[in-house]
Amino acid sequence: MPSAIPSITLNTGATIPAIGLGTWQSPKGQVRAAVFHALTETPVRHIDAAYVYLNENEVGQGIRDAIATGKVTRKDIFVTTKVFVTFHNRVQQSLDESLKNLGLDYVDLLLVHWPVGLNPKGNHPLLPRNADRKFDVDPSFDLLATWRQFEAAYRSGKTRAIGVSNFSAPVLSELLSQNISVIPAVNQIESHPFLPGPEITALCASRGIVVEAYSPLGSTGAPLLTNPIVKELAAKYKVPEATILISWHVNEGRVVLPKSVTPERISTNAEWVQLSKEDLQTLDGLSNTYGLKRVVKMKWGVDLKFPDWSDKPVAKL
Ligand code: A2P
Repeated sequence: MPSAIPSITLNTGATIPAIGLGTWQSPKGQVRAAVFHALTETPVRHIDAAYVYLNENEVGQGIRDAIATGKVTRKDIFVTTKVFVTFHNRVQQSLDESLKNLGLDYVDLLLVHWPVGLNPKGNHPLLPRNADRKFDVDPSFDLLATWRQFEAAYRSGKTRAIGVSNFSAPVLSELLSQNISVIPAVNQIESHPFLPGPEITALCASRGIVVEAYSPLGSTGAPLLTNPIVKELAAKYKVPEATILISWHVNEGRVVLPKSVTPERISTNAEWVQLSKEDLQTLDGLSNTYGLKRVVKMKWGVDLKFPDWSDKPVAKL
């Protein structure tokens, strides 16, 4: 029997379910049904969305469809959205637009999507570029000023918690060293056994910040499922490979956000198993054998200060 999905307590006192449904790259025409399936046919009660995914409208329809069945209520569901890089001076506006897209009157968590600012008046509303095709970086981007706007959004009640995403240890330390009144509740980062991020994970733990793992299967095509050690563990525990990668996070106290638009996989990804201490250690050390692999590398033209960050390869946003 699969274990129930545990909840983790945030620094706000609210709880967050440890397994959520990712919606990055979930196509329109499919994501509404995916969200509905997760909320009505599986124990998943956590949906991770973002303004820049350009599918919040359908994500919201899926949530509202699920509520209309009477199987779940709004307060049973944890909904996250994010403020994108051209909106850092317009946090309230971005949140309001996301709420409108989602058809909700509050979200449970609002994240700074990336610690990068792009020109809000550039040649594209989300990903402006200069004539040389490089991103049109906003040199006036001020992380503290943005965070102050997040604190105001939190006080407004339209989001029940605020946090960050794609923050490396040096960037998060910089924010934490400022005179902020709300400590981020979470840091959502790419995380899997090939990118365990011990430095950022330890910093988050020391400050009571919950780590949320995106791309836990390696993103498009789930390339990490073919690793021989992951396969060996899947055979040992008699579960799908995805369950091993998801369980690693759940066992170690992180939130994990597998993305799928396939109903059977969404159901599979709601399951986790207790892994032995030895097997967790094996997964912790996998990158020592196979090397570090970062899948999502945006060429922002800004140093994000991740220890393993380099210019290649680059994932499509
Ligand atoms: P799809 O959405 O077509 O079902 P990640 O969570 O690391 O971002 O990985 C997402 C990718 O993994 C998508 O291509 C998704 O495909 C695929 N995927 C999600 N869950 C599973 C699973 N349980 N088994 C195999 N592939 C999966």
